[in-house]
Amino acid sequence: MTTGTATAQAHPNIAFIKYWGNKDQELRIPVNGSLSMNLDGLFTQTTVTFNTFFPKDSLTLNNKPITGAGLDRVTGILDLVRQRAGMNTSAEVRSDNNFPTGTGIASSAAAFAALALAASTAAGLHLDEQQLSILARRGSGSASRSIPGGFVEWQAGADNDDSYAFSFAPAEHWNLADCIAVISSEHKPTISSQGHTLASTSPLQAARIADAPRRIDICRQAILNCDFEALAAIVELDSDMMHAVMMTSTPALFYWRPATLAVIQAVRDWRSEGLPVCYTIDAGPNVHVLCPQEYVETTANRLRTVDGVQEVLVSKTGGPAKLV
Ligand code: DP6
Repeated sequence: MTTGTATAQAHPNIAFIKYWGNKDQELRIPVNGSLSMNLDGLFTQTTVTFNTFFPKDSLTLNNKPITGAGLDRVTGILDLVRQRAGMNTSAEVRSDNNFPTGTGIASSAAAFAALALAASTAAGLHLDEQQLSILARRGSGSASRSIPGGFVEWQAGADNDDSYAFSFAPAEHWNLADCIAVISSEHKPTISSQGHTLASTSPLQAARIADAPRRIDICRQAILNCDFEALAAIVELDSDMMHAVMMTSTPALFYWRPATLAVIQAVRDWRSEGLPVCYTIDAGPNVHVLCPQEYVETTANRLRTVDGVQEVLVSKTGGPAKLV
């Protein structure tokens, strides 16, 4: 193969049970399994073109050329693809997000899922969902969960070949929505990749890992039963446990801002008044507020009144990564 091109789209995902810490940092084999839902409204579209005339790999992100560490991470995935396809042709990678850049929700999950699908297809490989999930995982752990559609479980696994994600309910199974309260769009002080290496320094991490299978079972069952009350309790517990680990690692990672806590408190109050909402927070100050779709308008409008919330992005449950 000397030339080949393919374009793929993938959604970011929001984890209900979080991935934080790796058993194998290089292969991104996590210390615990995780559960997530894909976010329909948002996607990354990536085109990969292999051509013998390209002197080296290049990357353009939202029309801006990227070099250095960003390009190296992409080249790492291209190398795995080239190795598998038995070729050494360089590639041009063009990637665009449909969501406003700089909202702090730019996700490496969507980026590496779209890259894995586009690059492997452009190289003439026909990988199945499991193989694609493994390949995407090598670029970013959470990207393994953006390959299958709907509600997804990433089984931690023991080695490269059995650490992958699969769908346990399709997107149509439950009309859940994610109202993302954007609190700051500044760049994260500590990116997730670095955070994962610190997780084991927290004395709370061992307890978080030991209890993970229980939380996963409860969360999976809540989703299968469309039981919002059960989902809310376990999702908030899991997010709080991950942030407790972050806050107690050395050095400590503290992602919350005053407005993050204001949203947490508001969500708890609204739920006690009968509105089905719950929060979950990734490695940043923004708060993902989950609710059944019929409560999106009320929830988004209320979130906009909380001091410090800059904007609210709404997303339904999304499908798998796909070729376009
Ligand atoms: C807090 O998948 O972004 O969002 O593998 O280093 O790219 P890398 O990390 P990443 O970590 C995600 C962490 C999280 C929780 C989650 O999505 O499960």
